Amino acid sequence: MKKITILISGRGSNMQAIIRNIQSGILKEICTIQSVFSNKKNAAGLHKASKLGIPTHVIASKGIKRKIYNALLLDWLKNENPDFIVLAGYMKILSPEIIQEFPKKIINIHPADTSLHQGLHGYDWAFENKLKTTKVTVHYVDEGLDTGKVIGKKEVDISDCKTIEDVEQKGLKIEHKFYSECLKKIFEDK
Ligand code: GAR
Repeated sequence: MKKITILISGRGSNMQAIIRNIQSGILKEICTIQSVFSNKKNAAGLHKASKLGIPTHVIASKGIKRKIYNALLLDWLKNENPDFIVLAGYMKILSPEIIQEFPKKIINIHPADTSLHQGLHGYDWAFENKLKTTKVTVHYVDEGLDTGKVIGKKEVDISDCKTIEDVEQKGLKIEHKFYSECLKKIFEDK
């Protein structure tokens, strides 16, 4: 069984979907979750994790130098020693030292096709460009911005979406299912 740690910065809906799948869905008996980490002490996802019985840990990134924050995070991650680090709406860039410590062990979900749009606001980008379909991407994290090896992409039909919120809602629904499916494949080494 793989041991995972999930990193979040906010709402934590992907985190919640993964934990539920570990507790009683497609990730049961495939991985265990040892902790949820947030760089924001008020992240709504922290309450969700606690309610689901998962230990949480915060290192507030606000107000401290990026280098110091990343060094503290690296120390904490080394101590946790997870088999995989799963980013779920974690909005900070991981330092090269962290990436090098966990090669091919850090996974992210991105709300766009990483070959077409990198960085923040993937659903806004799809809406503003009037796309009929967009994609979500699950990928390994390397030292670039959303440049890591793709694990899977899934299409989202947004042709009937009237607002950015509609696009996000449709995309998240797909993310919540697709992320766990990709994790299952990786953890089973298929
Ligand atoms: C998700 O849409 C995720 O794909 C995106 O943030 C949202 C987090 O929602 N991630 C990124 O943009 C990473 N660059 P959640 O906190 O409810 O899972």
